[in-house]
Amino acid sequence: MASSIVVASGKGGVGKTSLAVNLALTMARQGRRTILLDADFGMANAHILIGANPQRFVMDAIQGDAGMSEVLCDAPHGMKFISGGSGLLEMLNLDQTTRYQTIRMVDELRDQTEVLIADVPAGASDSSIAFVAAADRVIVVLVGEPTSFLDAYSLIKAASLEANVQNFAIVVNMARSVSEARQHFEKFKATATRFLDVNLTFAGHLPLSERMRRAVVARRPISMDQPDLPENQAFMQISKSVMTSPANDHGGIKFFSSPGGASASG
Ligand SMILES: Nc1ncnc2c1ncn2[C@@H]1O[C@H](COP(=O)(O)OP(=O)(O)OP(=O)(O)O)[C@@H](O)[C@H]1O
Ligand SMILES: [Mg+2]
Repeated sequence: MASSIVVASGKGGVGKTSLAVNLALTMARQGRRTILLDADFGMANAHILIGANPQRFVMDAIQGDAGMSEVLCDAPHGMKFISGGSGLLEMLNLDQTTRYQTIRMVDELRDQTEVLIADVPAGASDSSIAFVAAADRVIVVLVGEPTSFLDAYSLIKAASLEANVQNFAIVVNMARSVSEARQHFEKFKATATRFLDVNLTFAGHLPLSERMRRAVVARRPISMDQPDLPENQAFMQISKSVMTSPANDHGGIKFFSSPGGASASG
């Protein structure tokens, strides 16, 4: 059954797109039928990291010019990709109806999907919260800075109070070691759970990596390189931790859930 993961963050520039792209490619390499949805509409750049030049965009499906399966682009390892890029400024502020329409339209892909990974805009905008609420699992990317903690807290607070999302998988990016990453996680968890009724799981960390930065410039994802690189080991570990972390089931509108029915995943 198809399951969905959203990659979110409070602060921008913490590595959401890098994680979403490489996690999706890692899952595809492991043999899962994986679709990456670039839902950072208006600022879409996942295609740049993948090195793809999409000809069709999610907007074509939203406007009714194409079906959802017609806007799928091919990506490495057999991954499929839906580009949010179209250069249309109106994509920056989708209204609520269009956001829900997008979530519903993903249903068309149910039979060809095991995992949908969506990259969403930074922050606690209505768009981010709608996509966060629509996913079975939510990854929140943190870096070890007070501003990142504060903004991640605001995002989690909004998602839990406005959309009843309770479970969050935390990935600490740009950490120098697993112990440093764990320390950041424990500190963040202590503060967040003091004030909010949420469940935070440590889903792993990514090293601060010059290779990751260079991969963006080269438009060649690091997950296309040797699986034994530390970064790729990290993506495999994160993939495993996230897929075994608790799923959200709050009864709201979700990816791959039939109208009025129960969620198809979990
Ligand atoms: N582990 C890492 N080590 C070094 N650089 C990294 C790492 N992760 C991401 N970066 C770099 O940080 C920058 C921001 O990454 P990315 O675009 O993935 O962040 P983002 O959260 O999607 O940003 P935005 O909020 O603008 O969408 C990029 O230049 C990327 O190469
Ligand atoms: Mg991004």
